[in-house]
Amino acid sequence: MTKRVAIIGAGPSGLAQLRAFQSAKEQGAQIPEVVCFEKQSNWGGLWNYSWRTGLDQYGEPVHCSMYRYLWSNGPKEGLEFADYSFEEHFGRPIASYPPRAVLFDYIEGRVKKAGVRHLIRFDSPVRNVSYDEDSGMFNVTVQDHANDVEYTENFDYVIVASGHFSTPNVPEFPGFESFNGRVLHAHDFRDALEYKDKDILIIGTSYSAEDVGSQCWKYGAKTITVSHRTAPMGYKWPDNWQEVPLLEKVENNTATFIDGTQKEVDAIILCTGYLHHFPFMSENLRLKSNNRLYPVSLYNGVVWEHNPKLMYLGMQDQWFTFNMFDAQAWYARDVILGRLSVPSEEEMHADIDHWREVEDNIEDDYGAIAYQGDYTLKLMDMTDYPPFDISGAVQAFLEWKKHKKENIMTFRDHGYKSALTGTMAPAHHTPWKDALDDSLESYLKTDA
Ligand SMILES: Cc1cc2nc3c(=O)[nH]c(=O)nc-3n(C[C@H](O)[C@H](O)[C@H](O)COP(=O)(O)OP(=O)(O)OC[C@H]3O[C@@H](n4cnc5c(N)ncnc54)[C@H](O)[C@@H]3O)c2cc1C
Ligand SMILES: NC(=O)c1ccc[n+]([C@@H]2O[C@H](COP(=O)([O-])OP(=O)(O)OC[C@H]3O[C@@H](n4cnc5c(N)ncnc54)[C@H](OP(=O)(O)O)[C@@H]3O)[C@@H](O)[C@H]2O)c1
Repeated sequence: MTKRVAIIGAGPSGLAQLRAFQSAKEQGAQIPEVVCFEKQSNWGGLWNYSWRTGLDQYGEPVHCSMYRYLWSNGPKEGLEFADYSFEEHFGRPIASYPPRAVLFDYIEGRVKKAGVRHLIRFDSPVRNVSYDEDSGMFNVTVQDHANDVEYTENFDYVIVASGHFSTPNVPEFPGFESFNGRVLHAHDFRDALEYKDKDILIIGTSYSAEDVGSQCWKYGAKTITVSHRTAPMGYKWPDNWQEVPLLEKVENNTATFIDGTQKEVDAIILCTGYLHHFPFMSENLRLKSNNRLYPVSLYNGVVWEHNPKLMYLGMQDQWFTFNMFDAQAWYARDVILGRLSVPSEEEMHADIDHWREVEDNIEDDYGAIAYQGDYTLKLMDMTDYPPFDISGAVQAFLEWKKHKKENIMTFRDHGYKSALTGTMAPAHHTPWKDALDDSLESYLKTDA
């Protein structure tokens, strides 16, 4: 009997899994039957932009957390697929910080070439996954929105690739209920032009805070105030940008911070991160983690220690993204194909503990990048994922950090060397702060 594998989600992680199996098949391997369930109508995950917020046309929570004018926040040289370079896709070298539409095109290019779209059932949210000890199989219950039916199928393996940056973490501050402006989470932020000429308050200091604030600044917000719980970001911000301690309360439009200072604001954007949220997984199969480099219970960051027929992809906090998901997907594939074995639950647990202990002692972002590079390399070394100079990708990240420190509003004007092809990225035709059109056509123009 052919084994059956269910993949939940057709974002970069789920697509990596489809490509991994297709690559083995191309080389003559017998592969299992693979079915990918995707709740949206198209592939690409977060990179599949939607104007919708709240609930979608079927009443499902909208997955999209991306917004208009989003450009890659790290250099593309850090995420390049080892089996499909940017140069192969675009036919020439391109600049280092592509906008969302360009990265979507790149993600799509590889899987179109692989011919795996027919393996995906779209408009199909997975409702429930449980494990039947007697049959040794998973029951996967799916809603088929196109036909308005719910059905259950059995699978030998389940791979959860549903992402973890879609369910917002939404703290409440005193006075929100009577605030006279808009309060929203970054998950629902779509267009910075909404905040043109406005005074905005951002809560949080990580990538969403930095980038949502930068977008609002670029598209004409009057002032940006960023409130921190732990520490300020500390970049050299433009004159109309200030960092303040944590918000204490709001009254009408007045925000008061814990140091007693105040600011009149028109809108409050909570850039307070996301929850790992898998309501469709049975309790005994459900990953419960915060956003960290080595989530609990996942051997090699992938295999569910309590039942190795269940795997999770892309559940880490992410410096590396597409190439790390690939390394995970190739590894998961080889465990399923029996090319790699996993040790006993005790041994898996001890190995997970070791990685988490090392993570707990990481001192700074540089250490975190190196750690995730080592982790990705470890997985790559176990499979036939095309080897590439991962230290080159780490180098691109290190230069990126330096460029951000130099000038947070110009770091995207720099270029880096591809760890695959060795090609140096050309400068973009227009500085990021002046490039208001984020379309693929505009980005790929060779002159301003
Ligand atoms: C605002 C924002 C900006 C980002 N910018 C960058 C960046 O510049 N560079 C970078 O490298 N990374 C960036 N990331 C990180 C991002 O997590 C990864 O690039 C990547 O999208 C993760 O891929 P994934 O497949 O694991 O998850 P996702 O992209 O989230 O895809 C998960 C897929 O699973 C589907 N799904 C979810 N639940 C179900 C279900 N129950 N049934 C069926 N399908 C389901 C979803 O519809 C989705 O298609 C950003 C993240 C955010 C939130
Ligand atoms: N392409 C892009 O430009 C882009 C843009 C946006 C996001 N992203 C990606 O999206 C992912 C998620 O990033 P993220 O910034 O949304 O989440 P995150 O990295 O998890 O950061 C969450 C932030 O929220 C703060 N926070 C949480 N609860 C809080 C509370 N109760 N009060 C005050 N502050 C609170 C945290 O502060 P503490 O430090 O105090 O814990 C932290 O600063 C990342 O992978 C990022 O790369 C990319």
